[in-house]
Amino acid sequence: MADRKRVYVTRRIPDAGLALLRERFDVSMNEEDRPLTRPELLAAIADVDGVLTLLTDRIDGEVMDASPRVKGYANYAVGYDNLDVAAATARKIPLSNTPDVLTDATADMAWALLFAVARRVVESDAVMRSGRWGGWGPLQFIGGDITGATLGIIGAGRIGAAMARKSRGFGMEVLYSDAFRNEALEREVGARRVELDELLAESDYVSVHVPLMPETRHLINAGTLKKMKRTAYLINTARGPIVDEAALVEALRSGVIAGAGLDVYEAEPKMANGLAELANVVITPHVASATKRSRDDMATLAARNLIAMVEGKRPETCINPEIYG
Ligand code: GLV
Ligand code: GLV
Repeated sequence: MADRKRVYVTRRIPDAGLALLRERFDVSMNEEDRPLTRPELLAAIADVDGVLTLLTDRIDGEVMDASPRVKGYANYAVGYDNLDVAAATARKIPLSNTPDVLTDATADMAWALLFAVARRVVESDAVMRSGRWGGWGPLQFIGGDITGATLGIIGAGRIGAAMARKSRGFGMEVLYSDAFRNEALEREVGARRVELDELLAESDYVSVHVPLMPETRHLINAGTLKKMKRTAYLINTARGPIVDEAALVEALRSGVIAGAGLDVYEAEPKMANGLAELANVVITPHVASATKRSRDDMATLAARNLIAMVEGKRPETCINPEIYG
């Protein structure tokens, strides 16, 4: 027992992952249902061999230097803009994320937002609950057409491609913009790769699926929103800062675009002023991967990754494999 390695989990994750960790390690965990403060994080991991992190934990060089025993950080998320990859690589510390296991759940949620905002599901639900509905009317709650519309996917990686594939049931034309060609997607759904400006100009639904990086911060801004159709909708299940949220509020308010479905925000848990007052947005609290299977699989994948790293092996889904040279 005495030489059992110690790992820290920064917030409770599904039991399947904790059980795997407990088979091998002494596991300690943040028992509060909230993110750790920076001082709490530094104190908690000062003397452990590995850390399971969440997207709400900022892991940078300072954290790495304050926890010299740590053999790896396993992020419970596919996105890893919260990790300073360059700092870890310079220190030869491996990092991992949880791709694949949340691809369908996240793409499904992008669809849920698309449907909800286009067909005004939340707005009309509110009217029903208020008791103010006076009965059927020919001009009530007219929304956007989905079947046969054009879907624009920004970033045709795993999640973007999954969203595009799911459009087959709705006979949509699919455009995508990406630095890389996705030939499988072109074959399977007849998707056409276009420049971002063309995608914005032609799509009825624009769905964002790029990672947050310096190059994608505010990729959607006042200028790019103006390039969209006035009848188009924006869907974001990727990362909040990819969209200039204040500019989006202005565009939604003034009719530059028709609506937006958002699961992520620029400064979570806050929202831009005015966003929550708009009728033409559907806003959910960063829950796109929140299904039973997806979250269980994220927990077990993150746990397996952490076990590998603590034991000096390469994790299944390593973010910086170059450290293994
Ligand atoms: C969630 O936002 C994730 O990146 O997994
Ligand atoms: C991640 O960025 C993905 O598309 O899975």
